[in-house]
Amino acid sequence: MIASRPARSNPDPTGLELIAARPHLSMHAMDGLVMEGVPLTAIADALGTPSWVYSAGILRNRLGMLQAALAGLDAHVHYAVKANGHRAILRLLAAGGAGADVVSEGELLRAREAGIPPSQIVFSGVGKTAREITRALTEDIAQINVESAEELAMLSGLAQAMARVARVALRVNPDVDAGTHEKITTGRAHNKFGISLAEIPSLYAHAAQLPGIRPVGLAVHIGSQILTMRPYTAAYGRVAALLGELRAAGHDVEVVDCGGGIGIGYRGEPEPAPAALAGAIRSTLGRLGLRLIVEPGRWLAGPAGLLLASVVLIKRTPRTRFVVLDAAMNDLVRPAMYDAWHGIVPLGAADAVRPSSAADIVGPVCETGDTFARNRLLPELAPNARVAILDAGAYGSVMSSTYNARPLAAEAMVDGAAWATIRERQPYRALWEYESVPAWQTR
Ligand code: LLP
Repeated sequence: MIASRPARSNPDPTGLELIAARPHLSMHAMDGLVMEGVPLTAIADALGTPSWVYSAGILRNRLGMLQAALAGLDAHVHYAVKANGHRAILRLLAAGGAGADVVSEGELLRAREAGIPPSQIVFSGVGKTAREITRALTEDIAQINVESAEELAMLSGLAQAMARVARVALRVNPDVDAGTHEKITTGRAHNKFGISLAEIPSLYAHAAQLPGIRPVGLAVHIGSQILTMRPYTAAYGRVAALLGELRAAGHDVEVVDCGGGIGIGYRGEPEPAPAALAGAIRSTLGRLGLRLIVEPGRWLAGPAGLLLASVVLIKRTPRTRFVVLDAAMNDLVRPAMYDAWHGIVPLGAADAVRPSSAADIVGPVCETGDTFARNRLLPELAPNARVAILDAGAYGSVMSSTYNARPLAAEAMVDGAAWATIRERQPYRALWEYESVPAWQTR
């Protein structure tokens, strides 16, 4: 789980255990680590490192598993674009029947560029600007999830001026602890998200009177990397009770957006099955005649991606073996930002079976926080050996920066025995392409 330090009684999984648990990865004596049918060394050779690689098969399978679990409910998957908005990923998921959950004009444009129709797009977020709302109204997207009375008033004004009617869900803050890292918990009363349970009935009634607004339902999202169903059941139970209250007051409630947040087993934690989420939804909201939306990001994209890196050098201090990689916190910030645990495995078959000892695996950026793993068992590796940092498909590439003037890494997609570059490594000149220097400096 995020932020957990390995306890002695609960040792880290070994590299081979991590690979065995991931159906798209296998270790071959000759080819080393293979994703679906493609040796990852071939991609590292062609693109260099660091590079992101995504498995199309895993994306497809996981979407299919989730849809199968939700069968029988009138439920639709709206992939949370923020997890990984690459158009190749959006296209693949859209081809499988997914819509999109977007949180900015940029994500809305990405989804449209990937061919997702406006009728399949919902817009969430606590601070949508007038410009973003105008874009959403112009595109006539399916639904706007509103997070405050202030936003509702702004939306009404803009919709009225454009002679549009916005379909609105009010986002509930159910005051439920999702039991996840505090930086990604969103459903507690003190968090910035949503509208308190107590305020919803009057705001819903108000919304029904406002010009340009048609309230269609409720939305809830309590956090991310959630590994048990208890917080979901608690939150959905509160939403169901609220919904009863709204209907008793004569309001139409047609839709509940159940949010995302379902977690993955980065460190071998048992991952909630999609059937468990579907069960939590079924038992609380299943018989209320609702159209349902689920908005997973990480669960779909996280396990599908990894980050390839090369060892720059091994630095030995009296205390520590530092394995210094050419990937860094600017590429994958999750360990620095959330103390997140990501599996790290060698690409070479010979490397993978060498005896392991503890190492700190770090990047070259000038910050101590630029550490992917501390005190991690890793085989002896020589400079230029390659490793894969696992489960980096969600909140990986999208959170990259160019800190330390490090260009954005390349990206590739694997599908069976085929692979393609889906983003070139950013050239250095792109780092200053949109900068200018004041004219007085060049005179
Ligand atoms: N819906 C809403 C309204 C959200 O805010 C989020 C995520 C999702 C859906 C998708 O959540 P997921 O299924 O991916 O857990 N950067 C962090 C995660 C931030 C999640 C933000 N909101 C990380 O790397 O762990």
